[in-house]
Amino acid sequence: MSNTVNLDWSKLGFSYIKTDLRYVSKWKDGQWDEGQLVEDNNLNISEASTALHYGQQCFEGLKAYRTKDNKIQLFRPDQNSKRLNSSCRRVLMPEVPEDKFIDACIQVVKANEAFVPPYGTGATLYLRPFVIGVGDNLGVRPAPEYIFSIFCSPVGPYFKGGMAPVNFIISDFDRAAPYGTGAAKVGGNYAGSLYPHKLAVEQGFADCIYLDPMTHTKIEEVGAANFFGITKDDKFVTPKSPSILPSITKYSLMHIAKEYLGMEVEERDVLVERLDEYKEAGACGTAAVISPIGGIQYKENMHVFHSLTEVGPVTKKLYDTLVGIQIGDVKAPEGWMVEVK
Ligand code: PLP
Ligand code: COI
Repeated sequence: MSNTVNLDWSKLGFSYIKTDLRYVSKWKDGQWDEGQLVEDNNLNISEASTALHYGQQCFEGLKAYRTKDNKIQLFRPDQNSKRLNSSCRRVLMPEVPEDKFIDACIQVVKANEAFVPPYGTGATLYLRPFVIGVGDNLGVRPAPEYIFSIFCSPVGPYFKGGMAPVNFIISDFDRAAPYGTGAAKVGGNYAGSLYPHKLAVEQGFADCIYLDPMTHTKIEEVGAANFFGITKDDKFVTPKSPSILPSITKYSLMHIAKEYLGMEVEERDVLVERLDEYKEAGACGTAAVISPIGGIQYKENMHVFHSLTEVGPVTKKLYDTLVGIQIGDVKAPEGWMVEVK
């Protein structure tokens, strides 16, 4: 085992732990600079930065995993690069070339190798790339300068309990507008989710579920994760909507369900009045991995799926295959895993 820092890996939650180095690159006069690794975890930016006032920013989340033979690998960083650039386009920020993005991820992981949790602990190294508008500016317009940065932090499960089922409540609030920024990973979507999240937690739920903003009849997102359900005839179903974040985990699970587990897969409406269609349900995302959904509170009713305490068998198979691929125990589809060497 290569040297790792002394942390209680299996007890980690999803919190910030400062690591040794982070990557910072600056954009000015139409181009990105070379970028460098820096020790300081504070950014020195103009008080008039558009990121601070007008939410001109976006971010990503991906993870590095240690395999049994002590290699380190990233899960589908090309997909995070593509989504980051699509978010950049939506809020008029310069795109980050894919090779620059992946190279920066690799630099950050290598520079903080001691923070990549050991194989078998369940913990991983979470990478947080982001682009922010900076420089002096006052009116509502795109910034004159930008920063692209990536920091990392070792993490455990996002929802308490990891693979233990958790419960959610349907929110009366919307996460995104029908033709708004729901499909972009921009901070404003998350600022707006803080209050509904607080209300859900106060009522004893892990988080809230958002319905489609137009009709309030269809499930869209489970907090900061996508939704999937397993129908009684074993179909993998997940919502289709222009206002949800296109989750890389969800598209990976669709592939796994079809190609590894031989299931039928459907991306379509998930009606909140028809939860009885599903024998199992889960929340999926980079941070959440797969969090089985025990039950969903909608108005006066608590709809229980497989069980409030036990993981359903299909959810378990999806989890084992996904995580198996990520940690190198299961053969990955071509191009999914990128080794950090
Ligand atoms: N939905 C939202 C709102 C998210 O913030 C995330 C996290 O990135 C996801 C879904 C899951 O996306 P991914 O699987 O790409 O991490
Ligand atoms: C992720 O899964 O990467 C997320 O961004 C979710 C949350 C931590 C914002």
